[in-house]
Amino acid sequence: MLESLKNVGWSVERGWLSHQDLAVLSQAFQEWQDEKRFTPAKIGQGQNLQQHGGIRGDETWWFDLATPPAELKPILVRVDALKTEINRTLFLGLKDWEVHLASYPAGAGYKKHLDRHQSQSSRKLSLVLYLNENWQKEDGGQLVIYNQASDELTRVNPEGGTLVLFLSEDFPHEVLPAKRERRSLTGWFLDAPRGVL
Ligand code: OGA
Ligand code: MN
Repeated sequence: MLESLKNVGWSVERGWLSHQDLAVLSQAFQEWQDEKRFTPAKIGQGQNLQQHGGIRGDETWWFDLATPPAELKPILVRVDALKTEINRTLFLGLKDWEVHLASYPAGAGYKKHLDRHQSQSSRKLSLVLYLNENWQKEDGGQLVIYNQASDELTRVNPEGGTLVLFLSEDFPHEVLPAKRERRSLTGWFLDAPRGVL
């Protein structure tokens, strides 16, 4: 994973989560949805923040990182360890990270975009961990990663347990609509402490 990140700037690792971990999270995810913790996602930042179903159709939950749900704690510990490991081997100078849970209802996607906002430079490395049990290729919902010249580099099936990392500034990407609900833990490693631009 780190080798690929170093060589090409992105990586896809299947089986980063065990089936057991995935099963626990799937059940918890359903409960969080039943508790109505998710809200329609927004795009842009600050004054430009807007809800725009035509561009992205997911619902997100930015849970408080100071008090994360218990089921997520072991994963967040691993995300933090990953930050340390990436800094040790790739010298990206990652200072912090932020994550949220996302759910795309059937039919929803996210048009091609870059994760680094123009006015904000702290998002260095994007992370997506899929939480879908038994995902079939025919279910759709692939993540398409492009290079700066808009050549397609890869298509990732959002199969539960797969972890994707890519440099936030360098890779435009899009989420194709899926035939069933599509879940993930999505976040960013930052080169500044959280809350500082
Ligand atoms: C995002 C995003 C990709 C995915 O939330 O910015 O691009 O595969 N997500 O869910
Ligand atoms: Mn994105």
